[in-house]
Parts: sequence; C-alpha cells; structure tokens
Amino acid sequence: MRHLMTASLCALALALPMSAKAADPVIQLTVDSGKPGATIDRHIFGQFAEQLGHGVYDGIWVGKGSSIPNTRGIRNDVVAALKAIKVPNVRWPGGCYADSYHWRDGVGEKRQTRVNTAWGNVVDSNEFGTDEYMDFIDQIDSEAYVSLNVGSGTVGEAQDWMEYVTADQPTTLAKERAANGHPAPYRVAMMGIGNESWDCGGLMTADDYTAELRKYARFVGSYNPKEPSLKIAVGPGTPDTRWTEAVMKTWKERHGWSFDIQGLSLHSYTVYDGWPPHMPATGFDEAAYAHVLQETLKMGPLIDKQSAVMDSYDPEKKIALVVDEWGAWLAPTPGTNKDFLMQQNSQRDAVIAALNINIFARRADRVRMANIAQMINVLQAMILTDGPKMVLTPTYHVFKLYVPFQDATFLPVTYDAGSYVQGNTTLPRFDAIAAKGKDGKIWLSLTNLDPKTPLLVDAAALGFKAKSASGQTLSAPKVDSINTFEKPDVVTPKAISGKLKNGAVMLTLPPASVTVVSLEP
Ligand code: AHR
Repeated sequence: MRHLMTASLCALALALPMSAKAADPVIQLTVDSGKPGATIDRHIFGQFAEQLGHGVYDGIWVGKGSSIPNTRGIRNDVVAALKAIKVPNVRWPGGCYADSYHWRDGVGEKRQTRVNTAWGNVVDSNEFGTDEYMDFIDQIDSEAYVSLNVGSGTVGEAQDWMEYVTADQPTTLAKERAANGHPAPYRVAMMGIGNESWDCGGLMTADDYTAELRKYARFVGSYNPKEPSLKIAVGPGTPDTRWTEAVMKTWKERHGWSFDIQGLSLHSYTVYDGWPPHMPATGFDEAAYAHVLQETLKMGPLIDKQSAVMDSYDPEKKIALVVDEWGAWLAPTPGTNKDFLMQQNSQRDAVIAALNINIFARRADRVRMANIAQMINVLQAMILTDGPKMVLTPTYHVFKLYVPFQDATFLPVTYDAGSYVQGNTTLPRFDAIAAKGKDGKIWLSLTNLDPKTPLLVDAAALGFKAKSASGQTLSAPKVDSINTFEKPDVVTPKAISGKLKNGAVMLTLPPASVTVVSLEP
C-alpha cells in the first residue's frame, strides 16, 4: 500500500523562506479515516484571562470613556480578533488571583478598589467585574469558566456569587443583577473549585483540599436547572500523582446526587532550566529553541501518568482532564514589571502551541478542555496591546489555523517522524494529527520541528480520493521572528495551493513551521 501511494504522488508547490535548504527525506503519512477516534472537544482551545498586569486592564477593558474604540468599555479590536479564532471558553478571574477575589468588589455602581496581592501589589479598580466579564463573553460568542475563591472565600460567598450570576427566579440577588442591567440569568458553563490549592490557592494538603471540595461541590453550582455548570476540581501541577489519587478517591467514594465533579485540572508550563523562568523570548539561538521544544514535549507523558491514575478510578472517563493552564513561561520583556508576566511571542511559540494541541487531540477521550496561559499581554499570549495598538502573535495564528479541528473527529495517522538533532538534544523531526471536521473534510496539521531544513510530506488517506487540497502554513524568517506593532505581519499564515494525484498529496513544509490543510472529496 505504501509503495502504491508513493508512486501515485506528484509535487505540491509551496513557497519556502529564502533561508530554506533543499528538502531531503520524505515523510510518508497515512490517515486511517476508517477508524475514527474521539471528538476533539472545542474546549481544548480555551483561553485564560487573569486579573494580572495588562491582561484584563488595557488588554480587554479600556473603560467606556476611552478614546480606544470600545463597546461598553471592552475594546472592539480585541473582540473582533478573538471572534475570528472562535474562543470556546475564557477562564477568569484567575489563577492565583481567584483565591483572593471577592465578587462583591466588582458589581454595581460603586466598585471597591483593592490591592492585587497576587500580582505586583498594584491597585485593582474592579471596574472589570462579573457583569463586564459576562458582557465580554457574550461579545466574543464564548462560554464562561469562573474560578471560585476557595482559599480566602467561603462556601456561602461562592453560593451568593453563583446565585447572582445564574438564578432564573426573582431572588434578592437575581433582582440585584437585574438592577445592574441584566435581568436574564447568565450561563456559567464551567466553574473551577479553587486554583492551585496546593500552592498559591491556600497551601493545602490533599486532605485539606478534598474536605473543601466536598463542601464546594455539594453546595455551589448553577441556580438555573436549565443551564447546569460543569464543576472542575483542582488537580496536580507536577508528575506526582498523590493529589490526583486523593481527588479521584474522593470522587469515587462520594459522588452521587448531592456531590459530583466533571473535571480535574492539570497545570503545566513549559519552563526550561529551572525557576524563575529565564529563557529569553526573543534573540535566542538554536540550542535554546531545541531545549524549550524538548521541555514542551513532556506534556504528553505528564498527561499519560496522571490519566493512568484517573483510569484506575474512572475507567469510563466520566471525569475530563482539564489542562487549564499551559504554555511557554519565558523571561519577562526587559523593562516591564516582572510581576506582569509580559513576554514576546515568536515562531517558536507557534510550534509549541501546535505540539501541545496535538498532544491534547491525541488524548481527546480524556483531555476535553484546556486553557492556554494567557489570552492577552500575559505569558504565551494571542494578542499584545499597547494603548490603541494591537498585534496578533504567532500563537494567535496557530489557534486560527486550528479552528477546523474544533469538535472534529480524531483520525489516526501513521508516519515515521525521523529525528531532529541539535547538540545533545534529539527531538522528533515531524509531528502531525488528522481529523474529520464538522464540514466533512479531512484536516491535517503538520509541524516541521527542524528549524533549518524543509520537510517533504507524502500524505494520503486510506479509502479516500481527494480532488483538491488547500490550507495555510505559518513559517518565519527565523525561529525567533516576532510580530511587532510596527511590523505586524512578519509571521502570518500563507496560502498553500498544489496539485494532487490519485487522492494523495505531497507537501513541502518550511523549516520550523505549522501547516494546516484539508483534503477535499
Ligand atoms: O498564569 C500565571 C499563574 O500561574 C497563575 O495565576 C497560577 O495559577 C499559576 O501558577
């Protein structure tokens, strides 16, 4: 079969960067469209917007009186950009911030200013509160994922918050929401019960946390029976499985009509060479490129280790593994407040994003949600802003390329990835996933990790004759190329067009690139 496919192919032209050398090896990739896997839940493309630095203030919220074009205080340029990547959910208000957040500070006419003790001890005006967040969610056609305050809050405070937000009956809190401009109940699709409770969320032991979890999961939820909320417990942040054991054991022993959870969170950042993160976001060499990629590929084994524990308690995979903080955590941009976690975003980040999304998609039966950290101006961001200026990062473009994978059906692929060797670091040279989109098309995502050499891919789907193929590739002059306010289009996707023969296609992938194409019947 392999032999027949190869003989049937002809070249597909693809523009290469000036620096590209001639491609040598050919990757033979086969999609088995007859063996569909799990649905790649659109929620793995979720975002995280913490009340941190310029993530919310300036990034989303500029205020109603701002000269920056806005709708009810929320910037229009950011809303338009986010709508284009179909953000399925936005986690808010934290992060570490969530466990010191008191919702009453951010509702009504008179807002309580507070010191943001989690991030930089700066004053938080609380101008962006619950109603503004829900307005933002509505403007970008997304879903709300609210993190409850378990660390410094109470079960009663969380109950009141959720009653204010979701109650569909004329209670005092629902009337207060109506008086604040929103008579109809909001929908909270997901609620997180705390954040990193083993660390910034309260330095709890696993036993401390499961005691809190039982109460929060028992008493706090949506007040609207027509719109229940999924409940997500705090999970691990390292390969250690003891926390996962404790939460899953609690779930196994106690779940029933009055207590349940639907997700367990996992936090894992790409941090190379220890804490605090110090790998430069730009101006790095090839060794740093390879080291950071090697680090990011640890996500797969980490998920597998934690999933194995979940499987032992929950073989039916009722509980989703929710990777609700992931991404590259690099050195802060020089000259910025280090507590604001601002970092540039390069073509390396684009490759990191694709590799992680592929890791999640391959495990779509268990990983049903993920949130990249963070959406705007913080860590591995989609968007950077500076006053009225806005620029889309390479990571943004990856999320846009992957839109057809949202709620698509995973299809197995076989290939020999080969090796990319840099010094003592050996990585796979190639990474790929395939899926059948809701549009009926077969979609391929193809990543060439090698930053110096293009890669020829000879792709075919068993039992499927493609009549055309089209897509886009994201490559850059250098692996540390970035988009800036002055030069926003250094790293942007370019169209691929090519010829097919007998339903198979040959693609040339530029060095260090992410390519998404569809095969069309
Ligand atoms: O994303 C930044 C921080 O990283 C979050 O607030 C916290 O949950 C994690 O440690």
